[in-house]
Amino acid sequence: MTRYWGRREFIRAALAGAGALAASAAVPQASRSNGVVVREFHRTAAATEIEVGPLGRRAIWTYDGRYPGPEIRVREGERLRIVVENRLPEPTTVHWHGVPVPNAMDGVPGLTQEAIAPGASFTYEFDASPAGSYMYHSHQGVQIDRGLAGALVVEERSPHVPYDRDYTLVLDDLLPGDPPDIASGSGGMRGMGGGMMGRGGGMMGGEGGMMRRRGGAMMGMAGMSALGIPDYLALLVNGRPPADPPAFDVKRGERVRLRLLNPSGATTYRVAIAGHRMRVSHADGRPVKPVEVDALEIGMGERYDVIVEARNPGAWAIAAAPLQGAPEPARAILRYVDTRRSAPPDGQEPDGLRRGSLLGLRDLEAIEPDDAAARADREVDLVLSGGMMSTAWTIGGQVYPDADLIEIRRGEWVRFRMRNMSMALHPMHLHGHFFRVGRAWKDTVLVPPHMGEASLEFRADNPGRWFFHCHNAYHMEMGMAREVRYVG
Ligand code: C2O
Ligand code: CU
Repeated sequence: MTRYWGRREFIRAALAGAGALAASAAVPQASRSNGVVVREFHRTAAATEIEVGPLGRRAIWTYDGRYPGPEIRVREGERLRIVVENRLPEPTTVHWHGVPVPNAMDGVPGLTQEAIAPGASFTYEFDASPAGSYMYHSHQGVQIDRGLAGALVVEERSPHVPYDRDYTLVLDDLLPGDPPDIASGSGGMRGMGGGMMGRGGGMMGGEGGMMRRRGGAMMGMAGMSALGIPDYLALLVNGRPPADPPAFDVKRGERVRLRLLNPSGATTYRVAIAGHRMRVSHADGRPVKPVEVDALEIGMGERYDVIVEARNPGAWAIAAAPLQGAPEPARAILRYVDTRRSAPPDGQEPDGLRRGSLLGLRDLEAIEPDDAAARADREVDLVLSGGMMSTAWTIGGQVYPDADLIEIRRGEWVRFRMRNMSMALHPMHLHGHFFRVGRAWKDTVLVPPHMGEASLEFRADNPGRWFFHCHNAYHMEMGMAREVRYVG
């Protein structure tokens, strides 16, 4: 046993962004102010070279030289203060994805703050509330896809589903080098502004405009598919490639909580575990009535917490296969400490990747009281389109920042109805608020391709200027975003 646990500690230490060691090393200070515990962290963003197992040394951008960034873990009710130092060659900001922070702490350059200049620092401070699995990441350009992302966990005081052990799995897509050059593909377009797009809205308006304008030169951008997904080198779990998967040790009989986080630049995954089902306990950090499935899909920006009952000794493959995109699945290992195997049989594929029950939005039911109005005070129809022959991704045919404001008033219930006229997946994320989708609370919702629809409702209770966008970093950068502004 001692040997195993020694190994376990070693593994935890080796896992960037996960485990107790990471968390304790990252908590240099706690103080009290008016009886509230304030936890202070520092994060330095810098261009780094990092060893990614058999993939060798890669030039990526990191927080504190680690990839993913070191996990920030605090308890519900505490206050977070994070000093961010920018040693990158360009400006940056940090966004606390999912946490309903005050507007000025939201980290959206040009909207909630001026970007942090190279050499400068900025201090973010906000209440770590409510409890949940969140992420922190750069919100400048496509920096998130260079490696600037990490887990942010706020532990609940009394979890609604008990568990014995808690692991964080950060799913990420690794570029072979610098991100595809969006500017060369669409810089001219963005410079020309939305006027060229036509304001007709809808797919035909938007894409028709693009096609006319770009004439014969309608091709995908170098290094990127027509769906707006770069040609990634590999898909990783906690910074480790499939050939060198991280192992998560469990003891027989334990209930293991896995926090699945997706800060990927452009990859949506189907996740399954060989030999085990998953009991989904949280969607985007919000507690739900536990629902058992064989697999779930997780889009960029989404988080799911699942409980796995360790009742099937062995070493089992955890796999996350891309729904769109070419790389082989991201991999990890669920390993019982008292098993003789240290790795699953070669090529083991969880059945759930191809069959079995798949979590649906309709399966999610919040345990929190539902005070949503039956009728929204304001309804906004949003048509999502782009891709194919065009290099723009649009909402209502408009390319942010040349796009209409969505104006709302404090106290209203607001409903967004989204329709996806493109072939790509669009995980749509609203800053500063949780929204209701079906019977659950989330902050990011995956709108399926090919006429897929989703609608969300939120109470306007956090005044400011908030970003609403697709969490595919390239779709966002190429226009699929809006500002939601309180005007009263
Ligand atoms: Cu993860 Cu605009 O955010
Ligand atoms: Cu998108």
